[in-house]
Amino acid sequence: MPLDIYAEEIISNYEHPHNKGKIDSPSVKLHENNPVCGDDITIYCAIKGDRLEDVKFEGDGCAISMGTASMLTDFVKGKSLSEIERMDLNTIKELIGMDPGPARVKCATLALKTLKGSLFLYQHKEPDASTKEL
Ligand code: FES
Repeated sequence: MPLDIYAEEIISNYEHPHNKGKIDSPSVKLHENNPVCGDDITIYCAIKGDRLEDVKFEGDGCAISMGTASMLTDFVKGKSLSEIERMDLNTIKELIGMDPGPARVKCATLALKTLKGSLFLYQHKEPDASTKEL
């Protein structure tokens, strides 16, 4: 797909986000922000066994951070926790179809960083190196 189609996809997800809202009594939730710009996100997870059964998010931010959160929450629903733990910046690049570049990388990875952080929290594990890098 040409680049502008991918950009349109992000904008469309930003304007009409999927999975926006709260989960009542989530298995775990985590709030994170991007200290540079103040954008923030809270991710709510419903976990059954080793699967992410449902995921929702709330937050305020730029089109890339919120559009990516919408696309990522669609993508990870139903996946195993270990699959999600292995996701990194490359996962995001493939998902959104572009390299956000150094200026926007923190925008593009805010949702994944928060999601992975919430799964580590749920399992009482320390975030791994690839999550700390995001
Ligand atoms: Fe803040 Fe994008 S400008 S996350």
